[in-house]
Amino acid sequence: MLMKQRLLELLGIEYPIVEGGMAYIGDGNLAAAVSNAGAFGQVGSAGRTLSDFEQQIRLASERTARPFGVNLPIGEHSDPRERVEMILKYKEHIRAVSISAGNPKPYIPVFKEAGLPVMVVVSTAMHAAKAEQAGADILIAEGTEAGGHNGPAELTTFALIPQAVSAVSIPVVAAGGVADGRGLAAALALGAAGVQIGTLLIATVESPAHDMYKQALLTARGEDTTMMERSVGGVTRVLKGSYIDEVLAFEKTGPTRETLYPYIKGRRTVSPCSKVNWIRAMLTVDRVLG
Ligand SMILES: Cc1cc2nc3c(=O)[nH]c(=O)nc-3n(C[C@H](O)[C@H](O)[C@H](O)COP(=O)(O)O)c2cc1C
Repeated sequence: MLMKQRLLELLGIEYPIVEGGMAYIGDGNLAAAVSNAGAFGQVGSAGRTLSDFEQQIRLASERTARPFGVNLPIGEHSDPRERVEMILKYKEHIRAVSISAGNPKPYIPVFKEAGLPVMVVVSTAMHAAKAEQAGADILIAEGTEAGGHNGPAELTTFALIPQAVSAVSIPVVAAGGVADGRGLAAALALGAAGVQIGTLLIATVESPAHDMYKQALLTARGEDTTMMERSVGGVTRVLKGSYIDEVLAFEKTGPTRETLYPYIKGRRTVSPCSKVNWIRAMLTVDRVLG
């Protein structure tokens, strides 16, 4: 209860629920809707240009008078410094920053000096302890049930939470596979201060996701997700589907990060297989013209 209270106070919220930072999905409108509902909305910086990131922070600020945060996945940006500057520019509007996908150590003091509490996303108890030592105020302990990128240890949420809670003395928020009050109650019973939710929020009316995506999430069963990116050393949980089948088939050809990422980051909207066929067709046309 103490840790839950600490979380509520640090984030200025009514309920111990945090919207996970979400590439492409976590816009200002969704963050504001989550915050207006008494939880903690977050604008995601991944999958956005710097100016869109700024626009979404402004939008969240306009649409809610309640506290909201921003998520900075360090490894997603070739130069995170400009994102850091942007966050600092809006420090009066932002309540807290969550850092993921990289070493948070250099960034924690920068945000804390600006008066912003820092949440760090971790996937093992060891990283939880390290993040606490580096000055984190809150930990988001994310298990492998989570949608999106997972930690390489692939610990399940409910195996990770008690370990992380025992390793630190700051609030630990459970992320991964939580989608209702039962999940929240279970996380609290394991010592978590609250929960972070991602996938469920994608299926809301306020989310910018396409209706087909929302429908697919709503009709998905427990066994309908799979992992991609293993061929390049990653672990990313995604919804199964014909597009993912083709990505996984492409992964079997031994791609590099550079050849795989355009497909999984949405820069290519055709499947890798069709793309290969299309390239072949182009070559054929080229030959004919030649
Ligand atoms: C589409 C999608 C994108 C995500 N992008 C990010 C991200 O940019 N940064 C981050 O820290 N976590 C990201 N996550 C993880 C979420 O913040 C959250 O921890 C996770 O979704 C919780 O598990 P759940 O999906 O089972 O609710 C993403 C998750 C999803 C589903």
